[in-house]
Amino acid sequence: MPSVLQLPSWSQTSEAGAGLARLLERGVNPAGFCYLDNFLGEVVGDCVLERVKQLHCNGALRDGQLAGPRAGVSKRHLRGDQITWIGGNEEGCEAINYLLSLIDRLVLYCGSRLGKYYVKERSKAMVACYPGNGTGYVRHVDNPNGDGRCITCIYYLNKNWDAKRHGGVLRIFPEGKSFIADVEPIFDRLLFFWSDRRNPHEVQPSYATRYAMTVWYFDAEERAEAKKKFRNLTRKTEPALTED
Ligand code: OGA
Ligand code: MN
Repeated sequence: MPSVLQLPSWSQTSEAGAGLARLLERGVNPAGFCYLDNFLGEVVGDCVLERVKQLHCNGALRDGQLAGPRAGVSKRHLRGDQITWIGGNEEGCEAINYLLSLIDRLVLYCGSRLGKYYVKERSKAMVACYPGNGTGYVRHVDNPNGDGRCITCIYYLNKNWDAKRHGGVLRIFPEGKSFIADVEPIFDRLLFFWSDRRNPHEVQPSYATRYAMTVWYFDAEERAEAKKKFRNLTRKTEPALTED
């Protein structure tokens, strides 16, 4: 893997940024999701893929967990991926870091065009692998209860993906709409959708190894509220905590 990655020209980035802003703007109303293909190009995309494959082979991935009442219990039939969290500054993660910085630029470029949202933070990157044993992820909403996440962004890494044979399609069921949207998890595709109840979605059973990387962007206000609520909750359940 090259240790130095070439930045694409700014015009390329800003073009994509403008495209994303337009798509998200439009998406606020009719669909609420959009994607960009050939985001990094073959060479850089390959660097990301190789690193993700390494993480998988090195045994760095663990069973994904469910939130809410099912928290902490491994339910592979409901959610069958294996995951790890990457900040981007880990050794050998230069390509991932570069990808993250490009996505950040895109989202920041959208600025005030993100409707009511003000984004200044995001999660680490969740690297996920569905091992191809027929598991997927049942229909769910990423942020049903205001935990602060407003945009889900997924980068797919699967070459020669044939949805008819390999399954693994992400199906979105836009709230209150009569249509569904099927997104194939193909190499170098970057997908965005609103994380709240507008976009319930599922990963259909996967019959080949399926890699993706997800980041969630936070709305500053909702995130601050969520943190406050969580603090109050832990205070109530842990009387030993005496801070005020
Ligand atoms: C998730 C999820 C979708 C995908 O991890 O919450 O919905 O296409 N992933 O991998
Ligand atoms: Mn999801």
